[in-house]
Amino acid sequence: MSDKDNNSVESDHGDEPMSNHSDNPHFSTLLEKRLSRRQMLTGSLSIAVAGMFGLPELTTQAEAASSASIATKFTQSPNPPFVLNPTLGFNAIPITRSDTVTIPLGYKAQTVIPWGTPITGSYPAYAPDASNSGVDQEQQVGAHHDGMHYFPFEDNPNTHGLLTVNHEYVDQNVLHTHGPSLIAGQRPADEVSKEIAAHGVSIVEISKDTDGNWRIINGLYNRRITAGTPMEIRGPVRGSDLVKTKYSPAGIEARGTINNCGNGYTPWGTYLTCEENWASYFVNRASLPREHSRYGVSTHNGRYRWETAQSGADEHIRFDVSVKGSSANEDYRNEANGHGWIVEIDPFNPNSKPIKRTAMGRFAHEGCWVAPPQLGQPVVFYSGDDAQNEYIYKFVTKARYSKEINGDILDEGILYAARFNDEGTGEWLALDINDPYFHAMSLSKSVFFMDQADVLVNTRLAADVVGATKMDRPEWGTVHPQTCEVYMTLTNNSSRSAGTIDAANPRAPNPYGHIIRWREEGNRPWATQFTWDIFVLAGPETDSQILPEQSGLALTQDNIFASPDGLWIDQNGILWIQTDMSGSQQSSGPFGNNQMLAAHPFTGEIKRFLVGPQDCEVTGITSTPDGKSLFVNLQHPGDRSGANSFTSNWPDNGKVFKHPGEPAVMVNPSGARPRSATVVVSREDGGVVGM
Ligand code: FEO
Ligand code: CA
Ligand code: CA
Repeated sequence: MSDKDNNSVESDHGDEPMSNHSDNPHFSTLLEKRLSRRQMLTGSLSIAVAGMFGLPELTTQAEAASSASIATKFTQSPNPPFVLNPTLGFNAIPITRSDTVTIPLGYKAQTVIPWGTPITGSYPAYAPDASNSGVDQEQQVGAHHDGMHYFPFEDNPNTHGLLTVNHEYVDQNVLHTHGPSLIAGQRPADEVSKEIAAHGVSIVEISKDTDGNWRIINGLYNRRITAGTPMEIRGPVRGSDLVKTKYSPAGIEARGTINNCGNGYTPWGTYLTCEENWASYFVNRASLPREHSRYGVSTHNGRYRWETAQSGADEHIRFDVSVKGSSANEDYRNEANGHGWIVEIDPFNPNSKPIKRTAMGRFAHEGCWVAPPQLGQPVVFYSGDDAQNEYIYKFVTKARYSKEINGDILDEGILYAARFNDEGTGEWLALDINDPYFHAMSLSKSVFFMDQADVLVNTRLAADVVGATKMDRPEWGTVHPQTCEVYMTLTNNSSRSAGTIDAANPRAPNPYGHIIRWREEGNRPWATQFTWDIFVLAGPETDSQILPEQSGLALTQDNIFASPDGLWIDQNGILWIQTDMSGSQQSSGPFGNNQMLAAHPFTGEIKRFLVGPQDCEVTGITSTPDGKSLFVNLQHPGDRSGANSFTSNWPDNGKVFKHPGEPAVMVNPSGARPRSATVVVSREDGGVVGM
C-alpha cells in the first residue's frame, strides 16, 4: 500500500459471478489437469530438495570468495551450498520521473489485466469514464494489483498458466466517475458494492501466442474473489466465541477478504492471499476490546464508510463492529475478528471456498513465504506484520511434508515471533498457550488468554508478551531456493527514535528502510535459533551501505533506492527488490519514481532494472518457470489524482514502456484515467530476464 492514506468504502453479493465460458475444458478435465499440476510441483520440489544436499562445487574464484565471506558471517554453515550465481546481464537504468515503464535496452513489455478488464460472467467492457457498476466490477479485474503468482499448466508451462493477483485497495477518485459520494452521511449502495468488488483476488487464465504476446482466455478458471465472498474459518479459531457473528453463529464462516497485499503459494499448488490493513475498514463506536484496539480499529468511521451504505444491508452494516445486540449472534461485534488472516485459495478449482487458516496468526499480514519443503520435515512459512514497530513471524506445521499433504496441514502447528539479538543471533519464540516460556511470560506480565484461539486472535499481544523485536515495518520476504536463507524488507520507520535503535533496526528515524536476512541453525527452516545480518541499508549515496559488515559500499546512481517493499529470489538466484516510496519521496528525493532493482544475494551487486510510471508503487512479481516472461505489478499509478484530474494516464496513454534516452512521457491531468496493471517484461532476443 502506498504511504498515502485514503479515506473512504462494498457489495452485497457474496458470491463471485458464475462463469459464462467459451471454448474451455470441462470440469473433469480441469481436475485432471490440477492433479497433474500437483504431481509436477512436488516432483520439481523434490529435485530442488535433493539438490540442497548434494550440490556441486562452485566453479569460479569469485564464487568461492563470495561464499567464504558469507561463511565467516554464518558460522553454522561453513560450506554453504551456493550454486545459483546469477549474472546481472543488463545495463542499469537511470532514475526517471516519466509517466511510463522504463526498462533496459534489449527488453520489451506489454500490459495484461489492467483494472476493469472483463474476465467472467457477461464480460462487461471496461468503461474509460469509470461508469461501470458494482455488478460489472464483480466480473472485471479488481483495482490496485499487488502480490501475485503464476501457476503453470503441466502442458506448456511457459506459455499457459493461471495468473492469480491480489487487489489491495481502491482509489475512490479513480474508481468512480466523479469520485466518492457521501449523501447525508451515507454512501450510495452501488458505490459501496463497486468498492467491495474491486478488492480481493482475480484468477485469470492466460496464454502466450506465437507472436510472443500474452492474452486472456475467457474460460472456466477465471474467477473473482472479493471483500464479500463467503469463506470458511479453519484452524484453532474455528468455532471460537471470538468469531461468532449474526452471519455465522457457529463461528465457522467469514465474509470476504480485504486489503490483500502480498501473497504466497504452497508446495501443493494453492495460492495464499494475505490480509494487511484490514483494521481500518471497521468502526467501533463503543468500547474497544483488545482484539480491536491492538490493531487500530477506528472509533470514528470505517476507511471507506462502507458501514453507512444507503442499502442498510446486513452485508454493509457489518463493518460497524460496535456492540448492538444482547449477544454476538445478534450483531457484528466480532466481524473484524474474521479478518487479518492468511487465506488459502485453490486456483485450479473455481468452485472451491477460500479458507482462512487461523493457526498462522492474525496481524497486518504483508505476505507469506514458504521455505523449500523437505520430505519428512515440517513445512515452514514466514510472514511480516507491516506496521511501525511490529514483528516478524514464522509458522511451522506439526505434520511432516509428503506428496500426499494438502492445505489442512496449515491448521496445526506452532506460530513463532522473532527476537533479533544485537550480536547477530536470534530466537524464534513460540506463541503457544502450552509452551512453558509463553505461559511464564504471560503470567509475569499479567496478560491472560482463554485458549489458543484467543492467543491467535490477539497475535500481536502474544508477541508483545514474549518480547519479540520491534521492527521497522516488515514488508516482503523471500527464501533462497537452495540455501534457505531468508531475506526481508523493512520498508521505513518514521517513529524509530534514537533511544529505541538496535542492531537489527540501526537508524533513527529510518526514512529509507533496509533489507535484513537470516539463516536458520543448520539451514533447517524449522529451527528455533538463527543468525542474521543486514544485506543493504537503502538510501541516497550519502546515507546507504551494501553488506555493512562486509564490503560496506554505498549505493550509487545505478542503484539508489528507498522504502524497499516487494522482494523475490527467482529461479536463477536473482534477488528482485521493489520499492514503495511515498509521493513526496518520489517527487522531491533523489530516487525518481518507484522502481525495481536486481541484486546478487551473495555479492551485494545491485542494478536498477525498471522504473514505474508517475505516482505508482512497484509491487508483486512472478515468472514463468523458464524465466523468460517476468510479471510485475504497477499499483496505483496516479495515486495523487483528484476526481477527473489525474496524476498519471498510464497505461492508456499509449506508451506502455520506453528505454533510457527516450523522452519522458508527460502527464495530462484531463487525459486517460490511470489503471493498475500487470506488465509482462521479456527480452527482445527471447532470453532469460535479468541474466
Ligand atoms: Fe500493502 Fe505493507 O504493503
Ligand atoms: Ca507492500
Ligand atoms: Ca509499502
